Amino acid sequence: SRSIKIAPSILSADFANFGAECRAIEAQGADWVHVDVMDGHFAPNLTFGPATCKAIRPHIKGVMDVHLMIAPVDAYIEAYAAAGADVITAHLESGPHIHRTLQAIRNTGKKAGLAINPGSGIEQVAHLIDLIDLVCVMTVNPGFGGQKFIHSQVDKVRSLRSVIGARPIHIEIDGGVTVETAPLVAAAGADVLVAGSAVFTGGSVDAPEAYGRNIAAI
Ligand code: DX5
Ligand code: ZN
Repeated sequence: SRSIKIAPSILSADFANFGAECRAIEAQGADWVHVDVMDGHFAPNLTFGPATCKAIRPHIKGVMDVHLMIAPVDAYIEAYAAAGADVITAHLESGPHIHRTLQAIRNTGKKAGLAINPGSGIEQVAHLIDLIDLVCVMTVNPGFGGQKFIHSQVDKVRSLRSVIGARPIHIEIDGGVTVETAPLVAAAGADVLVAGSAVFTGGSVDAPEAYGRNIAAI
């Protein structure tokens, strides 16, 4: 019922227990589950691929939000669609043909997201606006959980909100979202907040309850 959706990132979850972790965060009020795919090339870290996404899909009742930090990306889109992603987000910086990439995502019948690194502008969004269901503003550089929120991105969120206006396009924030930074991006016009390390700080037998408290606090 809250207007801001929280999308916990399983990058900070227990990699040996993704199924249980997904069920726990949904039971504790997560709106979406954010799934970070990294290739050790576009992003300086490696996570997992479509087989893992397919394996965790039955443990997620709601939206499976797949963030592809990979390049090239086009050859893998169909695999993530088949794995059960609801939203597939590709990076503006992943190659020279982002328009084609977003068309390919839309052609699978899935929602298409456009992620934008902290060092990139939003000028291209206007040229892609008919192809996107979500813009993900990166408030850290891709690669790792637990990095510090980059405050210069808040103005970008505000500009993006004025470009998007009332169109049904989500503005998602990814990186460094905490109790302190969430209100800043919400006020600037964001409506989906990814949160990794701020949610998965339980680490004990009462972890699910801790997740719930953390989600509620954000
Ligand atoms: C960073 C990932 C994020 C990350 C966020 O490359 O895309 O989704 O998990 O983690 P926190 O919330 O800890 O900054
Ligand atoms: Zn992410």
